[in-house]
This record gives sequence, C-alpha cells and structure tokens, in this order.
Amino acid sequence: MTATQLQAPAIRVQGLKKSYKDLRVLNGVDFDVAGGSIFALLGSNGAGKTTVVRILSTLITSDGGTAEVSGLDVATRPGEVREAISLTGQFAAVDEILTGRENLVLVAQLRHLPEPGAIADALLARFALTEAGTRKVSTYSGGMRRRLDIAMSLIGNPPVVFLDEPTTGLDPQGRLEVWAAVRELASQGTTVLLTTQYLDEAEQLADRIAILHDGRILVNGTLAELKKLLPPATVEYVEKQPTLEDVFLSLVGKGEDADAARSAASAATPKEKS
Ligand SMILES: Nc1ncnc2c1ncn2[C@@H]1O[C@H](COP(=O)(O)OP(=O)(O)OP(=O)(O)O)[C@@H](O)[C@H]1O
Ligand SMILES: [Mg+2]
Repeated sequence: MTATQLQAPAIRVQGLKKSYKDLRVLNGVDFDVAGGSIFALLGSNGAGKTTVVRILSTLITSDGGTAEVSGLDVATRPGEVREAISLTGQFAAVDEILTGRENLVLVAQLRHLPEPGAIADALLARFALTEAGTRKVSTYSGGMRRRLDIAMSLIGNPPVVFLDEPTTGLDPQGRLEVWAAVRELASQGTTVLLTTQYLDEAEQLADRIAILHDGRILVNGTLAELKKLLPPATVEYVEKQPTLEDVFLSLVGKGEDADAARSAASAATPKEKS
C-alpha cells in the first residue's frame, strides 16, 4: 500500500447536495472521516443526518457533489461500496423468535461464509452476549437487541460501519452497553460514522464531531476544538468550560447571538484542503 492510500480518508464527502422536491436538505456538505476513527454527525430533527447516511450507504442517490467510502465513489461503484459497509438503523433488524446465536448463524449462512457457527460464537463473545446467545431474542433487553443488531451487521468484517441513532430509545444502561460495543468496534480498526441527537453520546464516543445545520456542516472538530469556539464563562476564579450542549445550542439557535456564533465558528473552523 502506498503512503497516499494509507492517508486516504475512509469516508470523503464533498459538496454533497440533496433535495426532496422543493425541500433542499443538503446544500454542499463536506467532511472526511479518518480510517479507524469514530465520527459523530449531530443535528436537530430533520437536519439531514439520515439522508447523508442513506447516500453513503447507496440507498439513495445525491443530486450533486461526491461521496466516497473506502476510496469507492458511491454513485459509480455502489456494489463495491455495499460490500465495504454495514448499516444499522434505528430499529433492530433481529428475528425475535430465533436465539441470538441463530440470528448470527443465519446471516453468516446467507452471506455464504464458511463456518457460520464459529463466526456467531466469536461475535457473541465480542459483544458480551455468550450467555444470552442460546435465549430467544424476545427475552432480550433493548440494549442487548441493539448489540446483537450491531454484531449482525459486522458479519463479513466490513471496514466501515454506519450507525443511525444507535441508542435512541434505550435506557441509560442500554446506552452504556451500546457505547461499549461501538468503542470495541473502533478499537479493532473499524471506521464508525454515527448519527445522534444525544450530545453526551458524541462527547463520549467520537474522535471528531460535525454539526449539520441548514444543509451544511457548521463546524467539524474534536470535542476540545468545538469547546474552544465559545469563550469560557469566568465567575470570579472558577473557570467554566462550555459543554458541547452550549456549543450546539448557540450554533443552531435563532437570533443575533446564534448568527454571531455561526460567523465565529466559520471563521475559526480550519478549511479542509481539497
Ligand atoms: N423520502 C423523503 N421524501 C420527502 N422528504 C424527505 C424524505 N426523506 C427525508 N425527507 C425530509 O428531509 C429532511 C431531512 O430528513 P432526515 O431524515 O435526513 O433528517 P434527520 O437529520 O435524520 O432527522 P431525525 O433526527 O429526525 O432522524 C426532513 O425534513 C425530512 O422530512
Ligand atoms: Mg434520522
């Protein structure tokens, strides 16, 4: 592999546009995701997060711009992109009547992989589901289902994984379980793009966070970089750092303060070299 290939991002999105009839959802979205990292796409309801994920996973086509996954253009090489990715949506796609292990074996068989039983056992162990593996999924908690869903999407070892709101609807314990599963994925070198409405989820998990608003990426950076966009509020000798929630609300809010915050953000966000 050449040095250029090693440095190529796992996901590259440039000038992405998408409208549904008169509704312009994406109006020039740009971001890169480094291989093996966790990237969180944050945005309010209807900001277009799922639209980005659906374009990247070849479920829908864009109206303009380019998107590449593992160096493959999603528009011109969708079949190869599909082999390089997995997509886990908000609702677990697991079969309730089967056991966890049977679900995994079934998917491995459908993908014509050798030794489906061994693949299932390895994934159960990896996601702390070995004991639950022989029980019907109908007896699982929400967090266990979501972990099984993520495990199923990893059969065949896709290098890039899309998780669309992986913890929506889960209780705090279920969220912690899924977070552990996502961290486990990235530690094995898988690139993870997740969307979330939960700012603490982005804070906890992501190497980089991008905020999608009004069809564009408003800011894109590490948590520390985003926190620097707002001046720390100082009360006597106690310095309070802004939380990601402060940054988010000040950027996507309405009014003069938000306009000022957005201008400051766009001036401070380093432009990606093309
Ligand atoms: N197939 C479609 N036809 C028409 N409009 C659509 C379609 N899919 C999405 N939209 C609209 O596009 C906008 C962006 O939707 P999208 O699902 O990408 O947002 P999102 O950021 O994922 O929101 P949420 O946080 O609610 O999941 C919304 O206004 C939505 O109503
Ligand atoms: Mg969505």
